[in-house]
Amino acid sequence: TRIVVLISGNGSNLQALLDQSNAGQLGGEIVAVISNKADAHGVARAKAAGVATQVVANVDYADRATFDTALIQAIDEYQPNLVVLAGFMRILTPEFVRHYQNRLLNIHPSLLPRYQGLHTHQKAIDAADAEHGCSVHFVTEELDGGPVILQARVPVFEDDDAASLAERVQVQEHAIYPLTVRWFCDGRAVMQQGKAYLDGALL
Ligand code: GRF
Repeated sequence: TRIVVLISGNGSNLQALLDQSNAGQLGGEIVAVISNKADAHGVARAKAAGVATQVVANVDYADRATFDTALIQAIDEYQPNLVVLAGFMRILTPEFVRHYQNRLLNIHPSLLPRYQGLHTHQKAIDAADAEHGCSVHFVTEELDGGPVILQARVPVFEDDDAASLAERVQVQEHAIYPLTVRWFCDGRAVMQQGKAYLDGALL
C-alpha cells in the first residue's frame, strides 16, 4: 500500500506512523508527506526519515477549489492507495473527498460524533465530560462525519486544562492511528458503497 500523509503542523501523528513504518509494522509504505504550511515541523520529521516531501501552500491559491485541484495533482504523482490526514487543518472540497473515496482517513481529537470541528478539548472540559478521546474515521463529504473505525477513551480529571487533556489524548492518537492504517493496509478496514467494515463487520 502506497501512503501519502497530509499535514499542517507538528506532525506527531506522522512521527508515530513513520516509527511504525521503520519498525516494519505499518503494512504499507509512506511514499510522500505533503504540507500546506512551508514551516510545518512535520516536514522536517519526514525529511529526517528519508521520505519525499512537498509543500502545497493554500495561501498561494485564490480559493479552495483551485487549492484542492493543485493538492490532488501533487498527491496523485505518488499514486497512493491511501491518503492519511494527520493534523491537516484545511477543510477539503467534496470533489477532493470524492476523488479519494474509500481511501481517505482522518484522526479527530474527540469521541465522535461529539465535538466535530475545532477546540475539542476545551469543549469536553466545558461540558464537564468524564471521558474524552480520539477517533480514526473514513472521510466522507460530511466534515468529521464519516464512519469511525477506532476510538480511544481517556479520563478527564478535575484539574485538567485543554493542554493537559490534549496531551493525554495525543498519547492515544499515536497508538490508534498506526494501528488503523495497518488495518487498512491489511484489507481489514474497508469502505465500500458508503459503508465501512472491519473484518467484514459493519462499523
Ligand atoms: C491532532 O490532535 C489531531 O487529532 C488533529 O490535529 C492534531 C495534529 O497533531 N486533527 P500532530 O500534528 O499530529 O502533532
